[in-house]
Amino acid sequence: MLKGRSILLIIGGGIAAYKSAELIRLIKKSGGGVRVILTKAGSEFVTPLTLASLSGEKVYDHLFSLTDEIEMGHIELSRVADLVVVAPATADLMAKAANGLANDLASTTLLATDKPVLMAPAMNVRMWLHAATQRNLATLRADGVTFVGPNEGDMACGEYGPGRMAEPAEILAAIDEMFGSGAIPMPAPPPVKELAPPRGPLAGKHVLITAGPTHEPIDPVRYIANRSSGKQGYALAEAARDLGARVTLVSGPVSLPPPAGVMLVRVETAREMNEAVEAALPADIAIFAAAVADWRVKAEAGQKLKKDGKAIPPLELAENPDILARIARHPSKRPALVVGFAAETEKVVEHAQAKRARKGCDIIVANDVSPGSGVMGGDRNRVHILGDAGAETLPEMDKAAVARALIARFAVTLARKES
Ligand code: C5P
Repeated sequence: MLKGRSILLIIGGGIAAYKSAELIRLIKKSGGGVRVILTKAGSEFVTPLTLASLSGEKVYDHLFSLTDEIEMGHIELSRVADLVVVAPATADLMAKAANGLANDLASTTLLATDKPVLMAPAMNVRMWLHAATQRNLATLRADGVTFVGPNEGDMACGEYGPGRMAEPAEILAAIDEMFGSGAIPMPAPPPVKELAPPRGPLAGKHVLITAGPTHEPIDPVRYIANRSSGKQGYALAEAARDLGARVTLVSGPVSLPPPAGVMLVRVETAREMNEAVEAALPADIAIFAAAVADWRVKAEAGQKLKKDGKAIPPLELAENPDILARIARHPSKRPALVVGFAAETEKVVEHAQAKRARKGCDIIVANDVSPGSGVMGGDRNRVHILGDAGAETLPEMDKAAVARALIARFAVTLARKES
């Protein structure tokens, strides 16, 4: 039933923790995989060793564990699972999750996860009925968290009422239902209308943009890269979106947040970027702002190259596909407007003009990336736009303003070409 499904089980500190050991067994029996996060309080009730033996996996219990972070970072932990189950969900864990607190591994994971969450509360009846817990329950429900239990009955503390954790079989049934209905409740995406105004000069147009550097692997841990930050390409994507376009942004590895309302395709190498660009066609405008590596290592080593005191390993290079030139000469799907970028360190306009002819694109945007210009990785840019009508130089501006100026001009050029 749970075959191929992976569950991250957070065990809080309560007497019901012992039932979670049984839950692990049931999930495993159903074919699912379980990774366990055990809170400090949880470890007072059940040992990591028991849980590791049952789950067949390492148990995670420290936020700042260097070895854990190397093996699997706490963000990664929350992302690789299909579902996060909190059992027992103590009053404390519910309060933290409801308020976005993140001061240990369990609460940090709950804040970082983008996966659905199922909670099985367990606590003393008065704690459960307390206005604070009921408030947290309502908040968590509104945030999309699903609940199973608590059940009514005798409590370990001698009182009677709601607060007993649901039985492991009930929790398993709730898990099954979440998967089985095919309706794992994912957080609703922000309404598209708010992000992309349906009107604008580029409404109904598809704009394809490449951005960032590429990483060309040498061996499993080393790669060839460059200093591109992706900022100009990401700003172009936002500017095109703001003029109403549907935007596909094919990005090399950068540390920028994904622009809202833009289809982001992440790639690493030039060859992956080439394939992603091809797959995104047809497009009305294609803008190649990525700093694609011209060369890759001819034979990537399968294992880490060793410094064993012998000869220094030679790096033989092979040429990468020139994505801009390929798309500009595409036999069947050439976009109506193809724009390339030229990062030059000397004779900027002259070299860029030659590049426009060589690559076969309609426009080249040339920028001066000579050392000291601060353009590569910086926030400002000064560009020259070279097209059929000659060259236009824009004043130095921040990259968002440069992007808006460029996209406005591209929209006009496209309209002219189409009329
Ligand atoms: O030849 P150069 O790398 O200077 O050309 C820069 C322009 O060509 C940029 O628009 C860049 O995105 C694009 N380019 C590409 N594929 C390559 C190399 C460059 O699309 N392999």
